[in-house]
Amino acid sequence: MPSEATIRLGITDEFPLLEKHQSIKGRLKTRWYQTDRLGRAIFSLLIVTLCAAVVSRVLIEIFSPFDSWPAVTIPLQDDEDNGTARSDKERRQAVKAAMKHAWGGYRKYAFGKDELQPVSNKSNNKWGGWGVSLIDALDTLHIMEMHEEFKEGVTHVANIDFSKTRANYTTPFFEMVIRSLGGLLSAYEMSLDARLLKKAQQVGDVLMPAFNTSTGIPYPRVDINSGKAVPADRVCIAEAGTVQLEYWKLSEITGNPVYHNTAQRVVDALDKARKPYKGLYPIWVDIDSGKLVSGQITFGGRGDSWYEYMIKQYIYSHRSNDQYRRMYEESIDGMKAKMIGQSIYDPELYYVGDLDSTATKFSPRFEHLTCFVPGMLALGSKTLGRPDDLELAKKLTYTCFQMYNRTDTGLSPEYVQFRTDNDTGISPLQEEINFTTVKLDAPSDKEKSDGFYLGSNRGYILRPETLESLMVMYRVTGDKVYKEWGWQIFLAIEKWTKTPSAYSAYRDVSSIKGNEELTDSMESFFLAETLKYLYLLFSPADYYSLDEYVFNTEAHPFKIMHHSRP
Ligand SMILES: *[C@@H]1O[C@H](CO)[C@@H](O)[C@H](O)[C@H]1NC(C)=O
Ligand SMILES: *[C@@H]1O[C@H](CO)[C@@H](O)[C@H](O)[C@H]1NC(C)=O
Ligand SMILES: *[C@@H]1O[C@H](CO)[C@@H](O)[C@H](O)[C@H]1NC(C)=O
Ligand SMILES: *[C@@H]1O[C@H](CO)[C@@H](O)[C@H](O)[C@H]1NC(C)=O
Ligand SMILES: *[C@@H]1O[C@H](CO)[C@@H](O)[C@H](O)[C@H]1NC(C)=O
Ligand SMILES: *[C@@H]1O[C@H](CO)[C@@H](O)[C@H](O)[C@H]1NC(C)=O
Ligand SMILES: *[C@@H]1O[C@H](CO)[C@@H](O)[C@H](O)[C@H]1NC(C)=O
Repeated sequence: MPSEATIRLGITDEFPLLEKHQSIKGRLKTRWYQTDRLGRAIFSLLIVTLCAAVVSRVLIEIFSPFDSWPAVTIPLQDDEDNGTARSDKERRQAVKAAMKHAWGGYRKYAFGKDELQPVSNKSNNKWGGWGVSLIDALDTLHIMEMHEEFKEGVTHVANIDFSKTRANYTTPFFEMVIRSLGGLLSAYEMSLDARLLKKAQQVGDVLMPAFNTSTGIPYPRVDINSGKAVPADRVCIAEAGTVQLEYWKLSEITGNPVYHNTAQRVVDALDKARKPYKGLYPIWVDIDSGKLVSGQITFGGRGDSWYEYMIKQYIYSHRSNDQYRRMYEESIDGMKAKMIGQSIYDPELYYVGDLDSTATKFSPRFEHLTCFVPGMLALGSKTLGRPDDLELAKKLTYTCFQMYNRTDTGLSPEYVQFRTDNDTGISPLQEEINFTTVKLDAPSDKEKSDGFYLGSNRGYILRPETLESLMVMYRVTGDKVYKEWGWQIFLAIEKWTKTPSAYSAYRDVSSIKGNEELTDSMESFFLAETLKYLYLLFSPADYYSLDEYVFNTEAHPFKIMHHSRP
């Protein structure tokens, strides 16, 4: 375009039309000598100016870390110690000390194994024996500048053979993608160590047979030793629909489009499937027919990251993939219309409940897993200009924090229950919907003051979702209260879950029995996500900026496409 404009600008009407068959170059030459000296000078100046403009625009496109769009996060620097609160730097160091402690125990007693058992100091290989804790933790080590530990980890990873595992073990496809493929890809992008890319590609390849189905919707497990998927009738939407970011990144880095195209078929199939309510997907999908067959509609377990990846892929695509934008907006509109509840005892507490498969019955239960939602809403709100979503995100973040703040240990249980009403069964926000009716005891005083009650599973298994949302909320809004809440949660984790060698899941957050409640388990996501999000919460917002990175559902940061151009 610029060259055409230049031609037009350099020509004055008084010159005769050129002959048809003269070449463009020839035509320009002819006109050039027909133009007077001043004209030629102006013409040259214009060309130079235009070229400079084009070149600088291209350079900006390639090298600028920032987009021309409004940024998602506001620039925030460290806060100093002000007498009542510790400085961000001190808090970051405390989190890093926690990572050093946990990594030290893992290294001493479980190096290369899947998990350290942090009470007994034993180890286990329940994830196939490739050392998932080590792989999942690599990029956290890098982010916390634990470079010696990172190097040692990479050297170990370079010798792992992902094409074999122990006899009879079948690999959960989704878990392996988000933890291992995701972890290797982000560690590669940080270090550009080719050994990590080679291993990432190996993991991507050994899992590809999962997609070998008539609809392209993957089987949930792969038998890596035989190179075949384990046949199954159904898979849940989170398992099928939370592998796209990783395979897309693998395509981008390797230049092989097959990975992305294969994973994209899943989204196209689910996008087309009939839903009981626009944007809301029952969790189970039939692999042969591609129909959404049964199960509840939830932003908690088995549904969660399917929705999370809609907005994250839109961001990763440099805001160019409109399918993902549309799907995300439909889902959030559906959630807001049908799934938001409010505590009848504490009207400050809003939550996301579940629906049955027909989207006609509401169940007032809020999972810790669902606490990723406020972070997602905040990201979506800023990316797509949906200010109401940010208001909802603030309310939900408050509830997620209170799930910690209102228990005896200051740790959150796996989920909390709400009561829909004491006589009519209606929650203030949900008058137009039916409720799952359960007979409940009269509310205790504690329930009345907390606004919710605990169910039978009261464990805290070192989950990250609330801290993830706190990090995003702080970076999007700049409100320092989110750092205070994160610090309070960190102190509770230190107080109740720390063992001499690492950190352990806690059986009952309403019990202050301490060590007795430790379950001898530390999932890899504690190292990959929980500690990483804490560290980033207390870091300046341009450190792994949300304008340059999108975090996979296991907290592995991937460079947004635009920013990863060579
Ligand atoms: C210090 O910082 C904390 C947390 O941001 C805040 O609550 C408190 O008011 C501050 N105190 C002073 C004296 O500025
Ligand atoms: C586990 O390891 C830590 C650190 O080395 C040690 O203090 C603790 O006694 C060990 N626990 C057991 C049960 O061996
Ligand atoms: C694997 O499964 C087969 C059939 O169930 C069984 O015979 C075999 O002993 C198992 N192998 C191992 C190592 O567990
Ligand atoms: C794909 O599935 C077909 C049968 O449906 C099977 O014959 C083939 O071996 C499978 N390929 C892989 C790579 O799993
Ligand atoms: C529940 O019942 C009590 C007593 O009838 C009433 O005062 C209260 O408004 C009702 N609703 C809630 C949300 O507690
Ligand atoms: C409530 O349930 C009935 C029967 O299952 C159904 O016909 C009706 O549409 C439901 N109402 C709402 C608002 O979903
Ligand atoms: C946390 O709970 C305590 C009571 O245990 C309360 O005093 C405090 O205000 C709560 N914090 C917030 C931020 O709600």
